[in-house]
Amino acid sequence: MRITLFLLCSLFLSGTVIGQKISIIPKPASITTATGTFKLTAATKLVVPNDADLNAARFLNDYLQQYLGFQLPVTKQRGANSIVLSTRQHIAAPGNDGYAFTSGPTGITVDGETGAGTFYGVQTLIQLLPANAAPGMQSVAIPAVRISDAPRFQYRGMHLDVTRHMFPLSFIKKYIDYLALHKMNYFHWHLTDDQGWRIEIKKYPQLTSVGGWRDGTIIGRYPGTGNDNQRYGGFYTQEEVKEVVKYAADRFITVVPEIEMPGHASAAIAAFPWLSCFPEKETEIPHHPSAASKAKGGKKVQETFGVFEDIFCAGKDSTFLFLQDVVDEVVPLFPSKYFHVGGDEAPKEHWAQCPKCQARIKAEGLKDEHGLQSYLIQRMEKYLNAKGKTIIGWDEILEGGLAPNAIVMSWRGEAGGIAAAKDKHQVIMTPGSHVYFDHSQSGDEDSVTIGGFTPIEKVYSYEPVPKELNEAQAKFVLGAQANLWTEYIRYPQKVEYMVFPRIGALSEVLWSPKAGRSWPEFEQRLQTQFTRYNTWGVNWSKAYFDIAATVQPAQGNKGLQVKLASKDKTGKLTYGISGVHFAKNYTAPIVVNQTSAITALYSRNGQVMDSVSVNLMFNKATGKKVTINPPPAPNYPGDGAFTLVNGIINNKGMTRSAEFIGYNGKPVTIVIDLGSVQPLEMVAAHALSAGGSWVHPPQEMEVSLSTDGTSYKRMGTAREFKGVTPQKGMLEVVAEGQRGRFVKLVLKPLEKIPANLPGAGNAAWMFLDEIEVR
Ligand code: ACM
Ligand code: ZN
Repeated sequence: MRITLFLLCSLFLSGTVIGQKISIIPKPASITTATGTFKLTAATKLVVPNDADLNAARFLNDYLQQYLGFQLPVTKQRGANSIVLSTRQHIAAPGNDGYAFTSGPTGITVDGETGAGTFYGVQTLIQLLPANAAPGMQSVAIPAVRISDAPRFQYRGMHLDVTRHMFPLSFIKKYIDYLALHKMNYFHWHLTDDQGWRIEIKKYPQLTSVGGWRDGTIIGRYPGTGNDNQRYGGFYTQEEVKEVVKYAADRFITVVPEIEMPGHASAAIAAFPWLSCFPEKETEIPHHPSAASKAKGGKKVQETFGVFEDIFCAGKDSTFLFLQDVVDEVVPLFPSKYFHVGGDEAPKEHWAQCPKCQARIKAEGLKDEHGLQSYLIQRMEKYLNAKGKTIIGWDEILEGGLAPNAIVMSWRGEAGGIAAAKDKHQVIMTPGSHVYFDHSQSGDEDSVTIGGFTPIEKVYSYEPVPKELNEAQAKFVLGAQANLWTEYIRYPQKVEYMVFPRIGALSEVLWSPKAGRSWPEFEQRLQTQFTRYNTWGVNWSKAYFDIAATVQPAQGNKGLQVKLASKDKTGKLTYGISGVHFAKNYTAPIVVNQTSAITALYSRNGQVMDSVSVNLMFNKATGKKVTINPPPAPNYPGDGAFTLVNGIINNKGMTRSAEFIGYNGKPVTIVIDLGSVQPLEMVAAHALSAGGSWVHPPQEMEVSLSTDGTSYKRMGTAREFKGVTPQKGMLEVVAEGQRGRFVKLVLKPLEKIPANLPGAGNAAWMFLDEIEVR
C-alpha cells in the first residue's frame, strides 16, 4: 500500500513539473529567456570533460543529493539529456571569471571562462532549480535561458569573527557554502583578538592553551549587567585550518587570515605578558567587580568588549621575533596572496609611557606613536612581502604613513578608502554604515545586537565606488565585504540570522552591473530567495516583514491617525484596538481620539511574520498643532515638533531616536494650539535622563497661556525633575482656574555639565519626549 502511494505521488509530481520562475541572486549581467524547459532527472548525465571542473560538479551533485535526494552520474562522454560543465578560455563573458549558461529542452551547457566562472555557472543552475526543492521530486524543470554573466568586482567578501565567540568547524564550512551560493569569493577569518586566540601556533602552545580561553563573558550589551564567570574558548588546529582552506578552495573561495597587531592583543599578552609594554600591569576587566577572574590578578584574556590599552610593545625586538614566528606558521596554511594584519583600534597610551617604545621612536626618527604604529606595520609588511604576501590592514594603517604595498580595508566610513585609492593603494570597502552585519536589521530586534540600524535595503543601496573617486582612482577599489563581529552572536543560528537575507543584497552589490540594480525588482526576487532559505534550513531574519507604524495628526488636528505598512505585499495585515480581541483587516489609516492600544499582526502563508503594539496616550495636546523654535539638533530630529504631541511616551529610552528631539545647551520654545479656549490645570514636559551619555533633564520649564496667540499670561515655572524611572521623568506646572487655547513652554537645558560627571564642562543634551496638557 505504501509503495503504491509513493508511486502515485511521484507520478503526480513528474506529471506536473513547471519551470522555476527565473529569480537569481545576484542578478546575472544578461538573461535571455527562451521557450520550453529542460527536464532534469536522476538519469541526466553530468558531462565534465576536464578534471579541473570536478569540484564544480561535486558541488552540484552534493546540492542535488541534499535537496532533491539524487545525484547525477558524472562522465566525460557527451550525449543527450546532459548538463555539460566546461572551462574554456575566451568565451563571450563580459568580464573575468565569467560564464555562459544555456538551457533548453535538449540539455544544459555551462561554459566558464575560468574554473571559478564554471563554478559560478553552477550556482546559477542551482538557482534555476525549484526554490522549494525537496527530496521526492523525481523530475524538475529548468527553464530555457541564455545567460552571459561575470562579476563586477574581483573581491566579494564576508568576514567572520571567531574570537568573541567561536563556531564549530562544521559551521565554518556551512558559512563557506553560503558564500559560494552567493558567488562570493573571499572569506576573511578574524582569528585573534582580546577575547581569544583561535589558531594553533606550534612554537607557542600557550597562545591557545592560555590565550584561547577566558574565564567569563559579560552578560548583555556592554558594559553588561554582570559576568557569567563561565570559562569559554577553544581554537582551530592547523589541520583544521587546512581543512577549511581546502574546503573553501574547492568552492573558489580564498580564505584570508587576520592576525591582529598591534592592538586587540590581550589574548596573546595573557599567554606571554612580555609582549606588553608593561608585563607586570594587571589586566583590568572593566565594569565588572563580579568577574571571578579578578582574584587571579595578572594578565588575562578579556571578558568584556571594546578597545584595550594593553597592546604589543613595539619597542622590543622580541615582539617582532614573536610576530614573525607567528607569520612563519600562518603563511604556509593559507595560499591566499593576502594576509590581514589588523591594525585597528590600537590605543597609544602604553607606547607613550613605555621607555622602549619611546627609544624606538627616537632611534628610528619617527614623529610620534602613530609613526611607531606605521613602523610596526611596515616592518611586518616587509617580512610578509618577502614571503610573497600582500598585507591588508584596517584603515588606521593610514595614520602615521601607509605601508608601501598595503591594501586598506575602509571600515570607519569611506574616507580611509578614498584617501588610499587617491594614493594609488588598493582598497576594500567595509563601511560600518552599510555592511556591518552585526548591526540591527529590524527596528525591534528581539535579541541583543551591538546597535546601529542596517536594514537590507540600506545594504542594497550601497555603492562600493565612492563618487569622490575619478575613473582611474576607482580602479583601486577591489570590492567590498560585510563584517560580522560576534560579541553578541554566540551560536550559529544567530550568525545566520544576522547574515540572511542581507548577504543576498551584498552579493548583488558586488556581482551585478550597477546599471541593472533596482530595489523594487530585487524585492520580487527576494521572495524566491526566502523560499530557498527555508529549503536550506537557514534561520533568516524576518525583518523585511516588519510592520512600520507611522503616527500622524488626524485631519484637522482632531486626534491621531496610525498608518501601518509592511514592505512585503504578499501577506495580510490585521489589527485590533484596545479590548477588541478579533482582528480587522487593515485597509486605511486608523483614526483614534482617545487613549488606545493598537495591536497589529502581519502574517503570510499562515505564519506570523511580525506583530507590533502602538500605545497612544491622549491628553489635551495630543495631535494638536505644535511649533518649536529653534529646530532640534540635526542628529536628534525625532519626528520634528510633532514628536512632542504624538501620543507616544518614550519607554525605550535612547534606542528609539524617533521618539524624542534633542537640544544641545540651548533653550527651546514650544507653542501648542489646542484649537479652542479651554479650562487647564496642568502642563508637563516628559524628558530623558542619561548622564553617562551627557543627557540631563531640563533645568527649568516656564509655562504661559494665551487665548489669542499673541498676549500670554504666566501659568508657572517648574525646576524639579520628577523621575518616573532613572532614565525618564518630567517637569510639571499645576495651577487652578486657568483657561487658554495656546500653551507656551520655554525649556532650559543644563548649560554646563558639572565636574566629576561624564562630559564635565560641556553643554548637556536635553532630550524631550512628550508634552502633556490637562
Ligand atoms: C573594526 O570594526 N574594529 C575593524
Ligand atoms: Zn613598549
